[in-house]
Amino acid sequence: MLYDVVVVGSGISGLFAALNARTEGLSVAIISKSTPLRSNSAVASGGINAVMKATRYDLYRQHISDTMNSASKLGRFSAISDMVCGASDIINELQSMGVVFDSEEDGSIAQRPFGGTTAKRTCYIADRTGASITQTLLMQCRKEGVEIFSNHVMLDITTFQEKLSGITILRRRDSQVIAFACKSLVLAGGGYAGIYRGHSTNSQESSGDVLAAALRAGMRLVNTEFVQFHPTTLLKSGTLISEAARGEGAYIVDETGERFTNELQTRDKLSRDIVWHQLQGHTVYLDFRHLGEELINKKLPSARKHALNGAGIDILTELLPITPSAHYTMGGIYSSGDTSSDIKNIFVCGECAYSGVHGANRLGGNSLLEGAYFGKLAGINAANAAKNGKYHPIDYALVAKQSRYVEQILEGENRFNINTMRTNLGNNLYRNAGVFRDHDSLMNALDYVHYLMKVSSGLCCVNKERSDNVELMSIIEFKNALVVAEAMVMSSLARKESRGVHYRDDYPQQDDKYFNADTIIRRLSATYLKISFEGYLSSDWSHRLRRFFHVL
Ligand code: FUM
Repeated sequence: MLYDVVVVGSGISGLFAALNARTEGLSVAIISKSTPLRSNSAVASGGINAVMKATRYDLYRQHISDTMNSASKLGRFSAISDMVCGASDIINELQSMGVVFDSEEDGSIAQRPFGGTTAKRTCYIADRTGASITQTLLMQCRKEGVEIFSNHVMLDITTFQEKLSGITILRRRDSQVIAFACKSLVLAGGGYAGIYRGHSTNSQESSGDVLAAALRAGMRLVNTEFVQFHPTTLLKSGTLISEAARGEGAYIVDETGERFTNELQTRDKLSRDIVWHQLQGHTVYLDFRHLGEELINKKLPSARKHALNGAGIDILTELLPITPSAHYTMGGIYSSGDTSSDIKNIFVCGECAYSGVHGANRLGGNSLLEGAYFGKLAGINAANAAKNGKYHPIDYALVAKQSRYVEQILEGENRFNINTMRTNLGNNLYRNAGVFRDHDSLMNALDYVHYLMKVSSGLCCVNKERSDNVELMSIIEFKNALVVAEAMVMSSLARKESRGVHYRDDYPQQDDKYFNADTIIRRLSATYLKISFEGYLSSDWSHRLRRFFHVL
């Protein structure tokens, strides 16, 4: 297979990238590991942030300031200001493709408040925003002639003399390893919150395969310790109850019916308040009862449905038990802010990328925006690179090696239960590298990850079927999850301070002297990760904000 541009991932960033590359008249393929609508973008229900009154600089300033504040000094100012100022164009573009945002009586787009924001700027479609947007983008991609390969899993990046030549792929239909050659590549394959299996809003598929492949290809990862826990997910399953609920006025209460926290603070602080309250013996609930049936049915229909299906609770009349679960990962593949990466002609965007806009804690509603804004940029950059680039030979030795790897998993004798191992990894990470962590708990997590790495060579399929073998997929995902888990735990150990979502009981203060910098993770060999802190950032960005708007 030969394409000008290959895009890995079919969430909002991958779809935007593919569309924008295709607009340039190039051949474009999307590689989706399952079906295109199962992305994490479809789960981001509550909305997408944008200042819609394009002439109001004060509103831009507020969005930039809220994002910078939420990022706890690790936000990259230029990337944030570019994204914020490009947001209304993204909304207009989505509207022109057919996305129908909820509107006010005067016809303007309705906007709701989200946590950590000083203004209502989250545009929405009830509480199913991500799903509606990705459906429209997918239809648009199909219409424009983007080729979509569902159930194709990227295994690795192939290079020739250190230049991109393509990717290797597991075709799930027949478990064959094949190669796609391309002139440029966009990595938009999602984050790794799914490694917290059993304690995550993500599907288990979001377990960091693209980050693991990037590390193996010699690319840097950044800030992997920053894992965001969404404060309100169903107690038993981790299913997301959108922040839209709190935006529309739902309360967080305990068994006494008392509110004990500010529902609209940023997710890092709110998750800590909730877990802390649980540790003191309380049960925590979302309370919708005062909102009334009309508002709930109009603006929060998915919350009502998830509560009913997932917990057997009707939120009109009953309290809904909730707990924080891993939702979004701020860490990602290094990018210099314009989606370019460590390898020429490879561009990164969306949750798998470090774009610098989220720092140590993402603002709710900024993920869809980031995916769209940087997805578009990645598509344009990839198209330009492809136009000026050429194909390089595929390394078929790597394809053969990976075929043997897949054969060994398919044919070997199994000694372990993959589902138990995944669940145990999720439980261990939640306990030891969760909302609260310290040196000892993180060392427990690291020891466990290393133990699993050792024994995972004995993971083979019980089911030897070659067509759509779910077990084969799970084993490959799990091995990648361990690579990313190791990076996440090691960077958490190295960051000896508390900042944003990374809260260490043994270092409860933010330490700007040593850690006002990004954590850089390099793979020096198959068994050696190097962690360093680079790019020390100025803690005072207010002068940049003033200069940006040419005021004062
Ligand atoms: O709560 C939510 O609807 C999630 C939105 C987001 O992650 O941005």
